[in-house]
Amino acid sequence: MEFFDVVRTQRAMRRLKPDPVSDEDLWTILDAAIHAPSGGNAQGWNFIVVRDAAAKRAIGAWYLDGWNKVYGRNREAMLANEAMARTFRSADYLAHHLAEVPVLIIATQRNNRGADLSAGASIYPAVQNLMLAARALGLGTTLTTLHRLHEQDVKDLLGIPADADTMALIPVGHPRGTFGEPSRLPPEKVSYWERWGERHERPQT
Ligand SMILES: Cc1cc2nc3c(=O)[nH]c(=O)nc-3n(C[C@H](O)[C@H](O)[C@H](O)COP(=O)(O)O)c2cc1C
Repeated sequence: MEFFDVVRTQRAMRRLKPDPVSDEDLWTILDAAIHAPSGGNAQGWNFIVVRDAAAKRAIGAWYLDGWNKVYGRNREAMLANEAMARTFRSADYLAHHLAEVPVLIIATQRNNRGADLSAGASIYPAVQNLMLAARALGLGTTLTTLHRLHEQDVKDLLGIPADADTMALIPVGHPRGTFGEPSRLPPEKVSYWERWGERHERPQT
């Protein structure tokens, strides 16, 4: 695929088929991940590729519990809000079907410096690379974090050491639906040139 088509159409794909993902594709997306930058090129990342059905069932149950705890009581309000309902329904679907997704990739970061400005800055570029590569291969992904409500359970299950934080859980699979452009404010609305508040005219194409 052409690079800019990949970037433009990479979005949260939460409805995934249970069909397997090949090892070759998984190596390709992991290879993209490890080409990302990290502070001081420390590369404190690890990627746990989980395909085992029992492990996915356990993680799926913890994820659903996290989903219910965070969003359960807002359910009616979310569904009544036109702007939120679509994302809510899709996230609700994922929360109830995580164990059926063929591959879960957990991105960990060692020696994360905690909740300061740099927290996550050395892992999320790799996660984005991974998701872009998956998109280029026609695989759907979503950056998720709700497993963190049960982070210690996930770490114990997978033998993740104490100094590695689980920064993202990325379900990977062949999408049930089609890729499309996500809804975003255009750069004209969110960029300032030279100084905060100064807009720059964009030539019409
Ligand atoms: C830091 C972060 C945490 C997220 N956590 C979750 C999550 O736990 N579950 C989920 O379904 N989506 C999660 N998302 C995905 C966002 O909901 C999604 O990127 C956003 O709605 C835009 O979706 P779109 O690209 O399809 O427009 C997360 C995204 C980010 C950046």
